[in-house]
Amino acid sequence: MSEPVTLRTVGDIAILTIDNPPVNALSRQVVEGLVAQLERFMSDESAIGLVVCAAGRTFVAGGDIADFERPDFSARPLNDCLLRLEASERPVVAAVHGTTLGGGLELAMACHHRIADAETRFGLPEIKLGLIPGSHGTQRLPRLVGLEAAADMIASGRMVGSQEAMSLGLIDSVAPRDGLIDAAMDAVRALAGKTPRRAALLPVASAAPDALAQLESKAARAADPAPAAALAALVAARDLPFADGIDVEASQFHNLVVSPESRAQRYMFFAERDAARIPGLGAEVVPRPISSVGVLGVGTMGAGIALAAALAGFPVTLVEVDQPALDRGLQNVRNAIAAMVKRGRLDQAAAAECEGRMTGQVGLESLGEVDLVIEAVFEDMNLKCEIAQQLGRICKPGAIIATNTSTLDVNVIAGRTGRAQDVIGTHFFSPAHVMKLLEIVRGDDTAPEVLRGVMDFARRIGKTVVVSGVCYGFIGNRMAEVYMRESEAMQLEGAAPGEIDGVAEAPDRWGMAMGPSRMLDMAGVDVGARTVIEWIKSGDGPQDPAYRILCREMFEAGLHGQKTGQGYYRYEGRKALPNPAIQSLAARLAQTHGIARDKAPDADEMFERLLFPMVNEAARILEEGIAYRGSDIDVVWANGYGFPRWRGGPLFMADEIGLNTVVDRMDHYAERTGNAQGYWDVAPLLRRLAAEGGRLSDWKN
Ligand code: COA
Repeated sequence: MSEPVTLRTVGDIAILTIDNPPVNALSRQVVEGLVAQLERFMSDESAIGLVVCAAGRTFVAGGDIADFERPDFSARPLNDCLLRLEASERPVVAAVHGTTLGGGLELAMACHHRIADAETRFGLPEIKLGLIPGSHGTQRLPRLVGLEAAADMIASGRMVGSQEAMSLGLIDSVAPRDGLIDAAMDAVRALAGKTPRRAALLPVASAAPDALAQLESKAARAADPAPAAALAALVAARDLPFADGIDVEASQFHNLVVSPESRAQRYMFFAERDAARIPGLGAEVVPRPISSVGVLGVGTMGAGIALAAALAGFPVTLVEVDQPALDRGLQNVRNAIAAMVKRGRLDQAAAAECEGRMTGQVGLESLGEVDLVIEAVFEDMNLKCEIAQQLGRICKPGAIIATNTSTLDVNVIAGRTGRAQDVIGTHFFSPAHVMKLLEIVRGDDTAPEVLRGVMDFARRIGKTVVVSGVCYGFIGNRMAEVYMRESEAMQLEGAAPGEIDGVAEAPDRWGMAMGPSRMLDMAGVDVGARTVIEWIKSGDGPQDPAYRILCREMFEAGLHGQKTGQGYYRYEGRKALPNPAIQSLAARLAQTHGIARDKAPDADEMFERLLFPMVNEAARILEEGIAYRGSDIDVVWANGYGFPRWRGGPLFMADEIGLNTVVDRMDHYAERTGNAQGYWDVAPLLRRLAAEGGRLSDWKN
């Protein structure tokens, strides 16, 4: 293997280059190389200064995240090296490009001068991994850009472009990409012989007395300890000399590296990237090209999908069956764009460009020329099949036909097109232009090129992708079904929706963004109930008269959630209040179905009954080969259902609790309830892994 860090001399200037593809992460070998080459530079006085740069697509994008798992991991060797670099009497200039992140930016800040190209982006994204910068970033950044801007960058992890970096004082100049090294060498010559400007020696500028106020309130609210650690480090930067500040940072960083919250988020980082790897789908599979998109059915979902594609630069044809439906659909899209402009997520020019990429048409025939058709009509099997038949005839050869569904059998729909190899399922989450997750449903006959094509498309529209096989509800909704089942069963047994949601939402126990009842009220009780009713009718769903009877009855009674002002909660505006109508409905249904209400579940039971059956269902999903790996399931829940990333997803969380405990408690409920419907049957994979000491989140098919 070639050396990851090299030192060469051009004229009288030394050039240190880091070359560790793909993103020049600071692995142990790179740090060792840095230390060694810096020593060479220091011990050879012939060069007048040093340029630090990197080869390939980016400057250093951070520490090597995988290294943090090593028990002997220490930031010390890198940090000592940065101190030594900064102490150099000869000028050290960083020439950076690409994404200069984390340890990469910390390395650049230890240099005396920074030059970037116009496209370079800078950030300290450690907070997204439950960490803080651990190589003096919390101490040098406020000295370079001021306390307020540093707190913003560290607490949000957001990237800033070159222009903003210039105005903040983070970098000193911008040069063309192909002239970056020359510009850095010129800077070395200009700075030679002068006292180097060392960030560590600058005072911390703090314009406002409450510069840390926002971070303080974030830290107070966060369940994850990282914001509080960032605050402590920045307070140290404000109040202490650099040499003491870096000690505070080091101890805060160390605590976080070994914290369960950060471990979970590091796991999630790799899980999201693994999800894009499909067994058997090698690099030889050429994606079907997609450069134009058609969306059929412009309701809320269709409008969101069309917008997601148009925002990413695709020309989109929006199709409805008649003009009034099309007008309503286009209005949906315009409203969504206006909302983005209002929130500052899109400027007027970009909004106009995005709108310009969309064309409305009446009738399916206008979809004949697009590369990808996404059918997003109402969730009704007969309707979808009828449309599939027409699309099979209308779409050009080689076009991909995607059916957007949250539960329906993609194989059946594919069969109706007469070209099942071109068909794939998509399960977007609403609002589709906002939500990160896309479940892609691979039909039995979906061609590998079609799968690849849609995965590429999904990446280009900014989605995190998980591929699922065909089954009721795919990965996410299939698990959500058992979660909702237990939530409703416990309500019949006397627990209030607010109590159950409270357990799911409590950060010290779980930390879901929304508990089950709040989630269904928002998504629409009618939407959920209709699916359940159809499922039961089809004969595939549980033939248990009490099965999700609460939501089915709520549907009949017109209690459809937020949109009707009444669901599991009663709404005053957006405020959710207890709904006495639900309590009495639950009591009446309990009586009808012979369910006792004298011993309502306590908080421990609520927690176990929500989480464990869901984990058990995930084990079945793995056994059946519906998901490729356990971590894919966690990606679905973290990106589509508000599962806290700092818990790593339901499987990672269950692994941390211990699969033995999960199995024991499932057996306990089976015994206590009599398990007439088999709800507490433990999946063989779960029982086996529990016995072997294995982990569900590590499981791979
Ligand atoms: N440590 C280890 N591996 C890293 C890494 C890091 N800091 N950053 C990226 N990688 C790996 C990814 O796992 C991926 O590997 P794979 O191809 O085997 O899946 C590869 O580099 C490319 O990353 P990916 O995210 O797929 O590419 P991208 O072009 O979409 O994004 C970055 C590039 C650098 C913007 C993005 O990877 C990123 O944000 N990385 C993390 C940066 C960070 O948090 N740094 C601070 C660490 S403390």
